[in-house]
Amino acid sequence: MSNKKILKFPKNFLWGASTSAYQIEGGIINDWSEWEKSEVRSKKFPPEADQPLAEEVRSKKKNKKLRIENFICGQACDSYNRYEEDIELVKNLNCGAYRFGIEWARIEPEEGKFDMKEIEHYRKVLQAAKDRNLKVVLTLWHWTNPIWLSKIGGWENKKVVDYFARYTELIVKEMGNLIDYWVTLNEPMVHISNGYVRGKFPPNKKNIFGANKVFKNLAESHNKSYKIIHEKYPRAKVSITALINYFEPARKWLINEIIIAKLFHYFCNDRFLQRIKNNLDYIGIDYYFHDRIVWHPPFKKNLNKRITDMGWEIYPKGIYHILKYLKQFNKPIIILENGLADRHDKYRADFIKDHLKYVHKAISEGVDVRGYFYWSLLDNFEWAHGWAPKFGLHSVDRKTFERTARPSAAVYAEICKNNELIINNKE
Ligand code: BGC
Repeated sequence: MSNKKILKFPKNFLWGASTSAYQIEGGIINDWSEWEKSEVRSKKFPPEADQPLAEEVRSKKKNKKLRIENFICGQACDSYNRYEEDIELVKNLNCGAYRFGIEWARIEPEEGKFDMKEIEHYRKVLQAAKDRNLKVVLTLWHWTNPIWLSKIGGWENKKVVDYFARYTELIVKEMGNLIDYWVTLNEPMVHISNGYVRGKFPPNKKNIFGANKVFKNLAESHNKSYKIIHEKYPRAKVSITALINYFEPARKWLINEIIIAKLFHYFCNDRFLQRIKNNLDYIGIDYYFHDRIVWHPPFKKNLNKRITDMGWEIYPKGIYHILKYLKQFNKPIIILENGLADRHDKYRADFIKDHLKYVHKAISEGVDVRGYFYWSLLDNFEWAHGWAPKFGLHSVDRKTFERTARPSAAVYAEICKNNELIINNKE
């Protein structure tokens, strides 16, 4: 008797892979590229002070030049020139969709001056995806800002709402017909916590009042852009991506831990979604980890039986819990990021399968999940952690930019092709 079980996904389930503009394109000048070069960043985040480091950085610890280079995005994966190759990779994975981003700083390098050559470029990228019969999920903003905007205070300045609206209007007019799913903002709460509370991302502040202004402006920008997109395309599918972390009390019976876990959930997961919930056609979510909450600092204490190269505990069941939480919004859900840094590709195939098993369970219990996108298609520039973490289904040679599929890519491709997951019954 076979001990295999086949988990079928719903018809038309959207399989995809995700990237973002700054992390893969190369040659972009924006607030991040400035930040990378700054003294503050290199002093504040020398690699040895970074999270558990991947071997690459550790082995270069003594080499100052490389220590700095590891944190410069530079040519990234050269996807600005190699976008067709990337789209082919998505096709080879048997995916039906590709999520990627456009870069505001390229399109509007100076306030109010739009570079139509760049618009033309992005139209070609979108068209290349369409020609290959892929659905496009397009991110308008993935944490990076044009320098002129950062100079006037970035997302703390109220004017950003009108600027972002004007940028959205242009995209709607120039390429809206080529976009299947819109993501106005990527993980606004991560921008707020890393940029304005923890000082890990530009603008490197620790200012709770500033954080609150940014929160309001981001929410208002989404709401306004939502309306702009819908004026021209009433049937458009518009969302943000929300990073939803699963917070659970370490001791289910301890009231302090229950309360703190609820507070984390409210501030990190729920508050922003509540602000924009009337302007969402679907909910785009990203899931990476869970946190076991204890009542004393540092408040998080995971068991860490299996961790990724970033030190994040692998916890597939968390995706089930967050999907159950999201059911209350009564909207279709698309998982737009789920993945891990795993340079030796040791855990990736199982990571994908284990998470999908729980996605399937949530679907079978009535949660309307419409798609799953792996983060990321390629190894790319991992923000404050630089080049060390390897999230890709494909590795990218840092000199030649050659892309090579990791073994887990074949496993994912098989799942996408058959629209099903085969698991051992005992699992
Ligand atoms: C972000 C990606 C990032 C990934 C892994 C997500 O929060 O949207 O840009 O690379 O996490 O850290």
